[in-house]
Amino acid sequence: MTSVKSKDNATNLTVLGIETSCDETAAAVVQGPVHRKILSNTIRSQIDEHTEFGGVVPEIAARAHIEILDRIVGEAMHEAGCSWDDIDAVAATAGPGLIGGVIVGFMTAKAIAMAAGKTLIGVNHLEGHALTARLTDDLEFPFLLLLVSGGHSQFLLVRGVGDYERLGTTIDDAIGEAFDKTAKLLGLPYPGGPHVEKMATKGDVTRFKLPRPLLDRPGLDMSFAGLKTALRTQAKKLEPVDEQTIADLCAAFQRSVSDVLAVRTRSALDLFRDRHPDAEPVIVVAGGVAANQEIRTALTSAADAADARFIAPPLALCTDNAAMIAWAGIERMQIGPVDDMALAPRPRWPLDSANAGVLGAGKKGAKV
Ligand code: KG4
Ligand code: ZN
Repeated sequence: MTSVKSKDNATNLTVLGIETSCDETAAAVVQGPVHRKILSNTIRSQIDEHTEFGGVVPEIAARAHIEILDRIVGEAMHEAGCSWDDIDAVAATAGPGLIGGVIVGFMTAKAIAMAAGKTLIGVNHLEGHALTARLTDDLEFPFLLLLVSGGHSQFLLVRGVGDYERLGTTIDDAIGEAFDKTAKLLGLPYPGGPHVEKMATKGDVTRFKLPRPLLDRPGLDMSFAGLKTALRTQAKKLEPVDEQTIADLCAAFQRSVSDVLAVRTRSALDLFRDRHPDAEPVIVVAGGVAANQEIRTALTSAADAADARFIAPPLALCTDNAAMIAWAGIERMQIGPVDDMALAPRPRWPLDSANAGVLGAGKKGAKV
């Protein structure tokens, strides 16, 4: 499986990926870069284990990864029709994330790589998200990435493998986290995003006025904690809130987030044009929040208005998965030899080391 060569002499690789940084246990086998192909993409969500606690409990997550990871890897190999002889390398998330889970995944990968004599690649989870669109679409560097998940909300300029610049970030809550907290305070189940979205469809978006935090300031940073507090204040005034009020609050919250993202996306595309006047402006969205239809529509319009290409990979590859980790491993192997046997798993690992400032401890570690 490793003999196919492209024009520029890239060798096709087959890589096993492992992802355990949050509440998904995932393994996948991916081939590339010559013929990009996902041979398997196995995932088991732990949501049922965490729902009653209203969020991910790190200790429960780590234990659940230990219990099931072997089986998930076996399933991914079986579904891909691969034996260990067919695998060139093992790539696993080495951070950032909930450290117990990261250790389970990365140490498992280390053991497999050692026993089977394979290259080990420790992948930055954010790099996995950042490069996914190059697996699913024909996409050259540079491009813009908007990563919006439960742990991260940031604009990244992706110039190449390992060459990232964070252009803006949330200065407090990640967007998914804000959706989850809003849902919780309105009595909706975890994870909150899909429930807030569903309620918002029945809501009157004009009833409540919520702020668009930070939009009065230049730059690409965002803030969502104040928005949630404003919503809480409105809800408290009307306690006990009825079903229609919950729907109206959800609609106002979602509109506010969409507006902030749309405005910031326009500015990010302007900045991209300034920096790379000869490149096609492209914005890629990744992360669970990308499932939100109103947000997708707002981003599509912002990209259209800026004459830019908008790429949203299929949802299963936008949210946490192991195919993106295997793919990032393949990309890393194209730029030089890799041997991460000495690498230690880490809870915090900013992609852009120039911006390593720690702004808070989110569900998945620092909101880098
Ligand atoms: O990327 P993801 O699956 O996991 C990480 O956090 O890395 O993202 C999960 C987040 C949760 O906060 C969830 O509430 C949010 O994405 N989410 C949504 C929607 N679906 C999931 N937020 C808004 N609208 C949705 N439809
Ligand atoms: Zn993620």
